[in-house]
Amino acid sequence: MEVIRSAAEVRAACDRARAEGRRVGFVPTMGALHEGHASLVRRARSECDLLVLSIFVNPLQFGPGEDFETYPRDERGDLETAERLGVDLVFAPSVEEMQPVRPPEVTVDPGPLGDRLEGASRPGHFRGVATVVARLFNIVGPCRAYFGEKDAQQLAVVRRLVRDLGFPVEVVPCPTVREPDGLARSSRNARLRPEEREAAGCLFLALSEAAERVRSGERDAATLVAVMAREIGATPLARLDYAAVVDEETFEEVREITGPARAVVAARFGSTRLIDNLRLPGP
Ligand code: PAF
Repeated sequence: MEVIRSAAEVRAACDRARAEGRRVGFVPTMGALHEGHASLVRRARSECDLLVLSIFVNPLQFGPGEDFETYPRDERGDLETAERLGVDLVFAPSVEEMQPVRPPEVTVDPGPLGDRLEGASRPGHFRGVATVVARLFNIVGPCRAYFGEKDAQQLAVVRRLVRDLGFPVEVVPCPTVREPDGLARSSRNARLRPEEREAAGCLFLALSEAAERVRSGERDAATLVAVMAREIGATPLARLDYAAVVDEETFEEVREITGPARAVVAARFGSTRLIDNLRLPGP
């Protein structure tokens, strides 16, 4: 496995692979790799010839007062994990390498989707994500890029980026990996105190209860939102940020379940903010 810090060298390695007719697969990450990332890498490994994984904690997607400084970082552990999973090339650039001009003067506007829900709670977050993903796609030039459904709104933003700016890449969504109690794997879980970790199971309980109500015939989004808010609100260490039922593609809140929809939640456990979502059963 090669570890490369220079964008030009990664571009050259990926150019060579494509020129030889090899399929380049890409898993972008911010490091602190866990089983969720591992599932993306395994899928990419089985479908691609050159497998590139990036590790870059992107300052652009963190707002003032957010956890950029304290975001979990473990490069040595990540490189061991990447090697064990069969990654061919790790791109681990510095901030200077990725953003020679800080802040960059040109950024990618994620459109109205970027202002909803997670975007409303974290202004500028999806602009930062769209900008860094566009830059990474320009460096790696992947044939396929793998994103987790755990960050469903991010996945929707990336799909629009690819559609509207014409990146020649296939975006491959991968299912959320969960702990035995349903908690979605996330790098931020490592920061939960034991009692917060136990409380965090309420997110999946809330989502599952909403899905169960839909299975039993409930179509009214306000009722489903109330069910989720009640479950999270009843958990002593949880502070609800939002619970909503949204259209799968636009992330606009729906009033009634008539097509593909997702239940989405965000809550704080101490200083750690977690998000999760579940696709609701079709009507
Ligand atoms: O999901 C993440 O880890 C990040 O948002 C991403 C896609 C690597 C962009 O920084």
